[in-house]
Amino acid sequence: MTVDQHQPSSGGVTASRTCLICRTPFEPFMSFGRQPIANAFLTPDQFGSEFFYELKVGTCPSCHMVQLGQHVDPGLMFHEQYAFFSGTSKGMTVHFAELAAAMRERYLGGPDPFVVEIGSNDGILLQNYLGTPIRHLGVEPSGNVADVARAKGIQTISRFFDPGLAAEIVVQHGQADVVTAANVMCHIPDLHSVVAGIRSLLKPTGALVFEDPYLGDIVEKASYDQIYDEHAFYFSVTSLQRLFAMHELEIVDAEPQDVHGGSMRYTVRHRGSGAVSSRVATQLQRETAAGLARDETYADLRRRIETSRDELVALLRRAKSDGKRVVGYGATSKSTTVTNYCGIGPDLVEFISDTTPIKQGKVSPGTHIPVRPYTEFQSRPPDYALLFAWNHAREILAKERPFVEAGGAFIVYVPKVGILS
Ligand code: SAH
Ligand code: TMP
Ligand code: ZN
Repeated sequence: MTVDQHQPSSGGVTASRTCLICRTPFEPFMSFGRQPIANAFLTPDQFGSEFFYELKVGTCPSCHMVQLGQHVDPGLMFHEQYAFFSGTSKGMTVHFAELAAAMRERYLGGPDPFVVEIGSNDGILLQNYLGTPIRHLGVEPSGNVADVARAKGIQTISRFFDPGLAAEIVVQHGQADVVTAANVMCHIPDLHSVVAGIRSLLKPTGALVFEDPYLGDIVEKASYDQIYDEHAFYFSVTSLQRLFAMHELEIVDAEPQDVHGGSMRYTVRHRGSGAVSSRVATQLQRETAAGLARDETYADLRRRIETSRDELVALLRRAKSDGKRVVGYGATSKSTTVTNYCGIGPDLVEFISDTTPIKQGKVSPGTHIPVRPYTEFQSRPPDYALLFAWNHAREILAKERPFVEAGGAFIVYVPKVGILS
């Protein structure tokens, strides 16, 4: 399915007033107001047809799944001009090489092993199985990023994953030893259908291994920029356990990851087919202690987000009145929530530096800050770099030592607003 992201659609959003997992009615605990599509970088001729919706988030009083209150149509977000290429981060390339090796060791050592990845993007994970005896298949609806994977020799189907596609894969290739997915399960509102498809695709001995940004980290760090159109859900072990139980699957492992600002890697198997790690119970206890199932936690989160916004805007206004130049670092999808929620436009941030060619020469969604190539950051270094790509901080701060040594500084807002010394 390919839809031009800037074509006005018939509404383009679906309101969600009952939990997508257990159907209990819920009220959003917070609205971020009018927001554009997070990855829809655009050119001035598209301003007139820019798509907006209300970004709001709530938590289900019954199964405690944190989820959006409105869902943008998938075809408006994932298409032939999708702007996110996984391979732009060296850190993530290493992370996925390690994940591929771990899955190979644990689950792909039998005869004629087969792995299916949902949301395989440019092949950052599956490329590690090229030249091995492991058969692979990527499912990636965004045609442009899928083409990058195909050029590497990775078998890729450009479709949205669903039970129908799962059945076709089983007929053509057989059931899978591993189904894997990174930063995509949380993108799919119809999670029941995806889980049903995965269940039919997995061998009785197979494992689903997936990771997504973790609710516990979002609450702890008030990293509200994880909340945007693509992220339909904010998972915890508590909420996912309920979901998988409805499909006779169970979480057998939950391993915290330090990527994307704090993620969780879940391993899920057919119920009763594998030992359950003690990490699952440990994580559940931590979630209870962190209050992830309590309403007060989210009321407090909302207050901390509002404070973060006020402090960031005050800092940027001060920098401007002091005559300092501020440039954004990384035109991340996450930065769309921050700039639109805080009202940060080109008056406060001169441009955003980004290494992704498809974003360069365009402007940021909603707030229309120009996105410029990294060479411009290097040739005209600002006083302050506003670290929108804070989830890649380790990689970026190592790379930007010369910028800091020359007197530049980074402005950050997660977990606290401030200037890195
Ligand atoms: N796994 C990669 C890419 C994450 S971005 C990584 O972790 O870096 C999410 C990807 O999932 C996008 O490339 C998007 O096109 C794809 N996607 C979105 N909905 C999907 C669906 N229903 N089935 C399969 N892929 C989907
Ligand atoms: P992500 O936070 O969704 O992974 O997106 C990271 C964005 O930041 C992506 O557009 C590439 C950009 N980026 C840079 O411009 N420079 C860098 O050093 C890194 C790591 C990312
Ligand atoms: Zn629910």
